[in-house]
Amino acid sequence: MTDLDSFIRALPKAELHLHIEGSLEPELMFALAERNGVAIPYASVEDVRAAYAFGNLQDFLDIYYAGADVLRTSQDFHDLAAAYFDRATADGVVHAELMFDPQTHTDRGIPFAMVVEGLLSAMADAQARHGISSALILSFLRHLSEEAAFATLAAADPWLDRIAAVGLDSSENGHPPEKFARVFAAAAAKGLRLTAHAGEEGPPAYVYQALDLLHVDRIDHGNRALEDDALVDRLVREGMTLTVCPLSNLKLCVVPDLADHPIDRMLDLGLRATINSDDPAYFGGYIADNYRAAAAARGLTRAQLVQLARNSFIGSFLPADAIAAHLERLDAHL
Ligand code: HPA
Ligand code: ZN
Repeated sequence: MTDLDSFIRALPKAELHLHIEGSLEPELMFALAERNGVAIPYASVEDVRAAYAFGNLQDFLDIYYAGADVLRTSQDFHDLAAAYFDRATADGVVHAELMFDPQTHTDRGIPFAMVVEGLLSAMADAQARHGISSALILSFLRHLSEEAAFATLAAADPWLDRIAAVGLDSSENGHPPEKFARVFAAAAAKGLRLTAHAGEEGPPAYVYQALDLLHVDRIDHGNRALEDDALVDRLVREGMTLTVCPLSNLKLCVVPDLADHPIDRMLDLGLRATINSDDPAYFGGYIADNYRAAAAARGLTRAQLVQLARNSFIGSFLPADAIAAHLERLDAHL
């Protein structure tokens, strides 16, 4: 391990953009398929990894939703999240905000309660075992209807005190944020924070809609905001956090090569960019791998890496006093 590797791993950081279903490693997929008697269309772990070549977001989503079919019980969701927390802790993550896609499961007959109880028990264990704090972000699938999103929000009612925010993910093009303006307003009225994927494949107009119609607290990805100078100025002025995912951007062809990744340009423009792993099992790396790959490809300085870690706490959904404590600990670490 090089000095820079150890520096990155040791840097206290928050992960703000992680789909827990996207942390399903092929080995666990096989183990759960066997445990639950579910057939999967792969002969081996190598076979699974070979299928992970994506030309765009939809190519990935098709495989990601199929993989999630092995998740059947609370214990499965617990084991999935426990494996993520072990990896995140090894990468210096001290706070993680986990997105989960209830509709991927409820539409297959898995009750909402089973999903959320498994995740919550792993979160409590991770706090006890590793001292890592975490929060849940309920993500609506944007290729489904507004009505289905409202039903999902209603299903979450018994757990609202243990869900920090709602998000919006899945196929972006053709499913603009405006489709979910009313359900986001209803979530805000219940006291939930708001985030949405925007500007990953979709145009800058979708980022404007996330700001103006959904009133989000942060933007997931946001890469294509860079095409619009006025939008960039606004994101800077409003201190909007962007949860950027370099290896995801590479694997989903949002950038042709990591050498072209705009992470340092975002920082230079004054954008509150962060680095995250998105779907680490599918995109070839957890958060430290993302920091490392971006640093290598773009020659990021240690000061820039520290800025990214600072931004991750500032952009989190933690209360202000907890954010201040994390920033103090980060300074003390340095
Ligand atoms: N984009 C949209 N939806 C997703 C993603 C993503 O990167 N990962 C999991 N669901
Ligand atoms: Zn994502």
